[in-house]
Amino acid sequence: MSKQDLMRAVVTEVIGCRGCELWKQRRNPVPGEGNVDAAVMFVGEAPGYWEDVKGRPFVGAAGKLLDELLSEIGLSRGDIYIANLLKCRPPENRDPLPDEVEACTPFLNRQIQIIRPRLIVTLGRHATSYILSKAGLPVEGITKLHGRTFNTRILGLQVVVIPTFHPAAALYQLKYKRGLEDDFQIVKLELEKLEEL
Ligand code: URA
Repeated sequence: MSKQDLMRAVVTEVIGCRGCELWKQRRNPVPGEGNVDAAVMFVGEAPGYWEDVKGRPFVGAAGKLLDELLSEIGLSRGDIYIANLLKCRPPENRDPLPDEVEACTPFLNRQIQIIRPRLIVTLGRHATSYILSKAGLPVEGITKLHGRTFNTRILGLQVVVIPTFHPAAALYQLKYKRGLEDDFQIVKLELEKLEEL
């Protein structure tokens, strides 16, 4: 089966998933989207209002900022794959619950195994803590971890993980926006290094 077929199978399962309670309140699940051959994958937290309405990741205000950050380093959505830890919107955008993370992340794991990215950028503390734990690495606060590069193994794959802030946080606080801009420069450098290999 091609990567596209494998990803379509994941999407179909996400649509039919009843693994936690979130499907009851959602309008649309948000499986993820982008280039299945991408070298870089972005992992966010969970759909917000507009993502739930449209069934697509990062299409609200945080998504607009993400697009700007990508464009500053010469990337567009077509160059990356983007998925969230949770595929359904938590009510009032509350934090993901441990049970929800446990029920939903097998989808994300499969997406990572299909895409086989060289680089994973985690957006915010929830995605960061999930991915670093998966790599068997200690989890600290996002303020300490952001912009660091972790050469590690996840799900049998050799990857570089770069944690950064969640773009939604940067909408309210300039320091996070600056942090994201700096961290995206690190993403750019790491991608250039990988291309040289
Ligand atoms: N925030 C996220 O973490 N993911 C989205 O898709 C949108 C906002």
